[in-house]
Formats: sequence, structure tokens, C-alpha cells
Amino acid sequence: MEVYILPNEEEIGSAIADRIEKLFSANPEANLGVATGSSPLPTYRELIKRVAEGKISFSKSHFFMLDEYVGIAEDHPERYHNVITTEIASQVDVDPANVHGPEGNAPDLAAAVKEYDELIREKGGVDLQILGIGSDGHIAFNEPGGSLVSRTHVDVLTNQTRVDNARFFDGDLDKVPTHCVTQGLGTIMDARELCLVATGEGKAEAVAQMVEGGISALWPATIMQMHPNAHVFIDEAAASKLKLIDYYREIQAARA
Ligand code: F6R
Repeated sequence: MEVYILPNEEEIGSAIADRIEKLFSANPEANLGVATGSSPLPTYRELIKRVAEGKISFSKSHFFMLDEYVGIAEDHPERYHNVITTEIASQVDVDPANVHGPEGNAPDLAAAVKEYDELIREKGGVDLQILGIGSDGHIAFNEPGGSLVSRTHVDVLTNQTRVDNARFFDGDLDKVPTHCVTQGLGTIMDARELCLVATGEGKAEAVAQMVEGGISALWPATIMQMHPNAHVFIDEAAASKLKLIDYYREIQAARA
């Protein structure tokens, strides 16, 4: 796992956009894994800028979302498909028909989650997956206690995640859905490259566990230690509980 400690979220967004630009210059048909939440927003702003400047094109790409709420109205602004459309897809040159997500309102959810994994495989897999992390160590909606090799599945949101996400639902916990469909940890681990963003002190414990803790269902993101091409982009606050922080800084300086 490569750790990058950067001064602010703009620099994090720019560093991830650099990796994406490099990937798409080499392979314009690469597929991008997109996450919702606040962590990827600076990256999306940077990508939108670079597409407008002609530095990157997503015209031959497929976007794959990580997760979706179950039972949320199709036109709800917090439906993840709508969030991704607003925050990035509609502002870049990806074909809207190529923006895919697990279907949270399918009549047969069990069949729909299988079809989603098949679709990812059929389109050649995800080349670079952008990720955030929950304060309880979840990635996508893989909450603590789940399988470390799961595929896309229906899951129950923990109270902690619902509390964290209530800010997107007028601060009203009762409005936050209780279930979701999410790529499994096994599905996420199939992506060829992972770029995880975490900022702020609230993420410091989860980051320390993810990078330095024992691999455990208690902190789902720890599975990323087994990925051969995983990059973690954090600010000083999110890095504050890392035991080997000086070592990561040394490696980072040597890379530059
Ligand atoms: C969203 C997702 C979640 C978020 C996580 C962090 O698609 O997969 O795992 O990445 O909850 O959310 P933020 O970035 O809002 O702190």
C-alpha cells in the first residue's frame, strides 16, 4: 500500500487526477470506478477541468459506481446514480449509457447484484477505483463484520453510517435508508488499481487500521493491504494516528 500525505484536499484531488490522466493517455478505453460521498469531490472537480482542457477524455470509458441505497426514489437527489451524474458524469464526456451502478430498486435484487458483477466483467473490469472510507472502516457499503471476499450484494447500513450520512438527508436520521446494494470487497479488490481518499481527524483511526492494523472483518478496508496496486491519499489530520508516519514521509520524499 502506498501512502501519500498531502497538505489539503485540492492537492489530493490533483494527485489522483494525475494518475487517471496517465491511465487514460495510455488506454482511452479504461474503465473508472467512481465513489459517492465528499472525499472524491476535489478529484471530480479536477477531472472536469482536465476534460474541458482536452487533457483527458472519458468518451470510450465505462464508469462503475460502488453502491446505491435500496428503495430510494429514482428522482431523489441523494440517489447515488443521481449524485454521480450531478457531480461528475454530466460534466465530462462519458456516455450517460455507460454510467453503471448496482440497481437499488430492482424487483429482484438478488438477480440484479449478480448481473452487476457480470456487467463489470463483461466490460473488461475496473482499471482504477476511487474510494472513500467510513469512520468505521467501511469501503463502499461493506460494513464491519462482513465477508472480506464478498461480491456485489444487498446489505444493511450500520447506525454509524446512517448517522454519518444524515447530513445528506436534512440531518434527519429517519430519512436515511436502512439498506443498500454494494460492490463486495472481492469485487472492489478485482479493480486493477485502488485510490483511496481520506481527510480529517474523524478518519484517522480508520486510516491507521487500514494501513497498519491486522486484516480483519472488524475494519473492512484492511483487505486493501492485500491489493498489489493500492494508493492511499490522506491529509495530515487523517494521517495523525499512523505509527510509521515518518517512514511514509521518507518514502514519499524519495518518490518525488
Ligand atoms: C460511497 C461509499 C462510502 C464512502 C464513505 C466515506 O459510494 O462508497 O464508502 O466513500 O462513506 O464517505 P465521505 O467521503 O463522505 O466521508
